[in-house]
Amino acid sequence: MISIKTPTQIAKMREAGKILREVEGRVRDAIRPGVTTADLDVLAEQLIRKGGGIPSEKGYQGYPCSICASINDVVVHGIPSDLRVLREGDIITVDCTCSLDGWQADSAFTVGVGKISPEAEELIRVTEECFWKGIRQCVAGNRLGDVGHAIEVHARQHGFAPIRDYTGHGIGREMHEDPAVYNYGQAGKGFALRPGMTIAIEPMITAGSYHIRTDADGWGIRTRDGSLASHYEHTLAINEDGLPEILSLPGFTWEVDA
Ligand code: MF3
Ligand code: CO
Ligand code: CO
Repeated sequence: MISIKTPTQIAKMREAGKILREVEGRVRDAIRPGVTTADLDVLAEQLIRKGGGIPSEKGYQGYPCSICASINDVVVHGIPSDLRVLREGDIITVDCTCSLDGWQADSAFTVGVGKISPEAEELIRVTEECFWKGIRQCVAGNRLGDVGHAIEVHARQHGFAPIRDYTGHGIGREMHEDPAVYNYGQAGKGFALRPGMTIAIEPMITAGSYHIRTDADGWGIRTRDGSLASHYEHTLAINEDGLPEILSLPGFTWEVDA
């Protein structure tokens, strides 16, 4: 069931989004060769709690940490470890969810460690572009198939593939709510977007094929062919005006032609 949020409820998610944005900015600044993914996890948890929030991933279905730290061929859900030291040339996705007064915000980004290959640069750029192509479709009256289709077309145009086994999602009191937001689809199909819907759009894109496998720890999800993967996510609300507000990107506004 898709739950529609009131403007007051969306305002609470906006506050959670502000904390998350601050935390992810600080984590991004801490990423460099020599740092471990456990260091990033500790930093994120400290900052979330300092901001008055709660790290929602910690304990979620038994997940042990406050961020997911997914390196190179790991698509999502990489568990931070003090044994994994970041090296020049790695790409890392940090995916974090935080709640404030019971309302969630969820966002992820992928970044290079030091100098990375041109292909990795392109994959990260195109994944972010996929998000923007998707969100442009997030106006009231459009359908989720329009969102997935826009993401898929852009990824394929660059020879990349959207992951099919994991999706974006509704979000609110829970980290994961209905509906599933696929990163592929048919234009004109699926649920219609309407004011009060809050969703996380999160293209997960690989430079090879979309087939995945699960690590022995039961969490890490990798590409089967070992190709690089990138991920970019924000939480958004469809506001009363029918336009999307990016709750995890405070201050962002759409440029409207004069
Ligand atoms: N933040 C992730 C998402 O985008 C979910 C994290 S799963 C967890 O949906 F187990 F790490 F919490
Ligand atoms: Co996330
Ligand atoms: Co999410």
